[in-house]
Order: sequence, then structure tokens, then C-alpha cells
Amino acid sequence: MKTMSELDVPIPASISLMRRFVKIATLEQRETALRKGSYNHFAFPADLLILDFLSDSGTSCMTDLQWASLFLGDESYGRNKGYYILLDAVRDTFERGNHPLKRINLIRSGETNVDQLMDELYLAPHQGGFVNGGEYQLIRPNAFLVPQGRCAEYLLYSTLAQVLRLSGENGQSPPRPSPKRKTRLGEEKYWIPSNGHFDTTEAHITASGIETVNLYQKGATDELTLEQIETYNPFKGNMDCERLEALILEKGRERIPLISITITNNTVAGQPVSLENIKMVRSIADRHEIPLFFDACRFAENAYFIKRYEPGYQHLSIQSIVQEMFACVDGFTISFKKDGMANIGGGLFFRDQGAFHKRFSIREDIGILLKEKQILTFGNDSYGGLSGHDILSISSGLFEVVNETYLQNRIGQTHYFARRLTENGIPVVLPAGGHAVYVDMNRFFGRTPNRMEDFRGIGMVVELIRRYGIRASEVGPFACEWDLKTEEQRKGILNLLRFAIPRNLYGKEHMDYAVAAISELHENEEVIPRMKITRGANLRLRHFQAGLEPVYDL
Ligand code: F0G
Repeated sequence: MKTMSELDVPIPASISLMRRFVKIATLEQRETALRKGSYNHFAFPADLLILDFLSDSGTSCMTDLQWASLFLGDESYGRNKGYYILLDAVRDTFERGNHPLKRINLIRSGETNVDQLMDELYLAPHQGGFVNGGEYQLIRPNAFLVPQGRCAEYLLYSTLAQVLRLSGENGQSPPRPSPKRKTRLGEEKYWIPSNGHFDTTEAHITASGIETVNLYQKGATDELTLEQIETYNPFKGNMDCERLEALILEKGRERIPLISITITNNTVAGQPVSLENIKMVRSIADRHEIPLFFDACRFAENAYFIKRYEPGYQHLSIQSIVQEMFACVDGFTISFKKDGMANIGGGLFFRDQGAFHKRFSIREDIGILLKEKQILTFGNDSYGGLSGHDILSISSGLFEVVNETYLQNRIGQTHYFARRLTENGIPVVLPAGGHAVYVDMNRFFGRTPNRMEDFRGIGMVVELIRRYGIRASEVGPFACEWDLKTEEQRKGILNLLRFAIPRNLYGKEHMDYAVAAISELHENEEVIPRMKITRGANLRLRHFQAGLEPVYDL
């Protein structure tokens, strides 16, 4: 007789303890809301939707343990207790593999042994890892809490540029930054390569005067069949190591302040990065003495792909794969709004006295510079712009997100959605990544014209909202500003619709409703309008701001 895991259906990972009923607005009501929001889907009231696939960020349904942790939060201005718990949860998650200490349980159990709390939590010294503890965090700060991922990117890249600017090329001692001093990167040019920078990361790097380079793996857009993806994953999120090596040789290692790997690679349809690739990048970074960082937003999903598909990792736990991944890097930025399963939060962490710390602590410890900026912009380092309640919900979420049954259901749901769409003839990027399903709008239309400048991907978003109350987002000619780009730049613009799936929020019935709605529009493609930009075509980040109008003339 079959065992639980042989039944050929996923073992359910959770049950629901709370429900929110959705409002059923009429087509006319949604149409009015669309019109009054200039047909910009970011401006559509979420409360009028049935399903919202706009983002998986901050939209997770929290677990009962996370909600319970919220109540234990401490809103003190200096050193709230959650601060210590979160820092130790970061050590547990990224460094301790199968042997987490789960200090959060001291608080959950109402521990009153003051000596124990002081020794194990509040005063425990730690050094040499991603999170110094005790007085080492004061002397050499290396852990920075912030409200979300982009704040960590801002801290990291603006401070990096500040050090580069002041040190010049030869690594000589920079003077102490003075507010009167002109801030420019001077004549020097720097590059930060990645397997795929997320848009906010790219924006922060370039705003700091540093160039970005995206080294997508060859074959990242090759298609696989449904049969192939049952047993195989090509880790399309990988970095192209040949091009990385060539870039370093061409520009010189001193021109590359760090290398970044995004796990999973959101820009390449949420595809995972293999440990083999991470280790290859590590050895290149070592050879040239360049620090290596993760953009670690979806680290747990990435680890699940490694366990499931990368040869040699099937017998390891998710926790120990995460440990092995993070042993390869000198630091990371993270948004806890993704694989922290929290609604808010982010962080920047780097290895104490590691390659990053050494290279950029030229006259002053880079951690001290980062801490000064953190305090100026986000508040005292022990809350970093977060409420004490949220700090505890992140701490709890980090333990739950590495649960393998949860991850199996999570990735299983994304893949179920992709499979059902493909079976209905919808062109979907295969294999699907971890957090989202992408529909290829270039192949979606068969009978009606589909010019990039008609923005029919946005037309599809509008029609999905208007007719069915479903919101997706366009990653295509409108968001990527096709009309403002040169011929050369246009070559890199894909035409995709992203359906990002919030964690623990939807079930099979929601996916089935979305599949039915998308399929109906696919069969009736002539009802999908082209879109005209009526306002703000030249605005920065226009997809959040511009106004549009549908034109139904096809
Ligand atoms: N890095 C990656 C890979 C991301 O996907 C995001 C956000 C960030 C950094 C920035 O984090 O939003 O907390 O400031 N991605 C969201 C998305 C917005 O919908 O893909 P943040």
C-alpha cells in the first residue's frame, strides 16, 4: 500500500484559520474604478479585486506563530528584545544549518531566568559571521535592519560609492566624509555584475554612480516541455561565468567593487541558481579578490530547487543547503517581505572581517559608516524603521519558510498554475520559477496585430481586471519604456505578463479561476485593447504613475 508521500498528490502544508470574503464588484464598477485611476493598474483599489497577482512581496498570509509573535513584540526605542531574537534567527537561518538554536523560544515560553536571557540572548558575544553579537556589534557593526529590501540596497551601494569616491583607485586612506565635500565618483568608472539585478537594485547602483552589468546565462529563454520539467531544471537563473571572467579581465578587479547573485533570479522569470554556479562564481571572486554578495530575497525557494533538481543535494535538508549557499558569500541584502514571510522588513549583513569588510574599511570601518547612515535614514539600529511587532513576525517567519512541506506546496502551486495554463494553450515561460508565472505576450496573440508600441500586455491587464477582477503586472514594452529606447536597447525588452503568487494566500480554486479567465481572454483575443499613454510617458518609473486609455479598434 502507498505511503503518504507515494499518493501522487502533495501533502497539504497548512490549514486556514481565518477567512476574508472577497467583494463581488460588477464589471461596470470595476470599469469606473479603472477609468478614474487612468487605467494604471497600480492605482486600482485592491479591495475590488478577486485575485491579486501584482506581487509576492509583503503580501504573504502570516502563520499563527507569526501572529502570536506579533503580540510578544517590544516597541522600546533602544534594544527591543526582538532585535536580539531576529539577529539570532538570521544566524540560525543562514549559518547554523541543521542546528538552529531557536532563541525565539526563550521569549515564546516566557523565560524568566535572567542569567539565561543575558547569557544566551542579550549579551552573547558573536564574531566572525554575518551577525556580530554583544560588544562586537558595537565595535564592528555588520547587521543592519531596514524597512525593506531597497533600503538595504540604498545603504550598501550609496556607502560603497562614498568609500570609492574618497579612496580613489589606489585604496589610499580616504579623509573623513565632510558634508561640504563635492560627491562624485570622479573620472573613475566601476561595474557591478550580476546574474540579473532587480530593478530597484539596478536603480540604487546607478544612482550611486556605478554601472550595472547583467550576465544572464545562455539559454535563459530556451523553452522546455511539460514532460521535461517533471524531472529536470536547467537553473536558468545562473550567472554566465565566462562573461564574468571576461568582464573582470577587461575592466580590472579594482573596477569591480563586488559581484552580486540574485536568488532566485526575479529578472529572469524567478528562475533558480544552482549551487554549482554559486561555487563557480565564488572561485572567480576568490581568484580576483572581489567580494561576493547575494540579493537573497527568495533564498528558501532557491534552496528548494537545489534540493529537488541539482544532483547531489536530494539527501540534504533545506536548512543545510541554505547554510552551504551562504557559506559562499561575503554578505547579502534581503527583503523579508518575500522569504521572511513577513509583511515588511529588510536587512543588510556582511561577514565580520571578511572580503567586503577588508576591502572597504579603508580608513574607517565600513560598518560604522553604514550604521551612521542607517541611523540617519531609518532610525536606531535595533529597529531600523520597523515596529518591534514586525521584527518578531520576521523572526518567526524565517523558521517557517525553510519548512520543506511548505516549500513543496509553494513551488508546487506555481507549477500547477503554469501547467494548467500550458495545457490550455497559453504560452507560459517553462519551467516556471518559484514565485511567479510569466505569460509570453509575444506568442499570446495569434489572430490580431501585436505591435510592441500598442502595449497590448497592459491591455490584457486592464481586461483581466475589468472582466474578471484579477490583477497581474506587465514586464514588457510599457514598463520597460519601449517607445523611449534605442533600437539596440529594445533588443533586451521581453514582453511578459507576470502573475506573482502571494505566499499561503490562495488555494487551487483561485488558480483554477485565474486559468479559466486567462484562457477565455486567450480565446477571445480581439476584445483585448491596445493602450495609448495619455499622461506621463516620460516620467521616471512611469509604470507606477503614467495615465493610459484603452483603444478598442482591433
Ligand atoms: N531584490 C529582488 C530580487 C526583488 O524581487 C525585490 C522586490 C527587491 C530586491 C526589493 O525589495 O520590495 O522589499 O524593497 N521585488 C518585489 C516584486 C517588489 O514584486 O518583485 P523591496
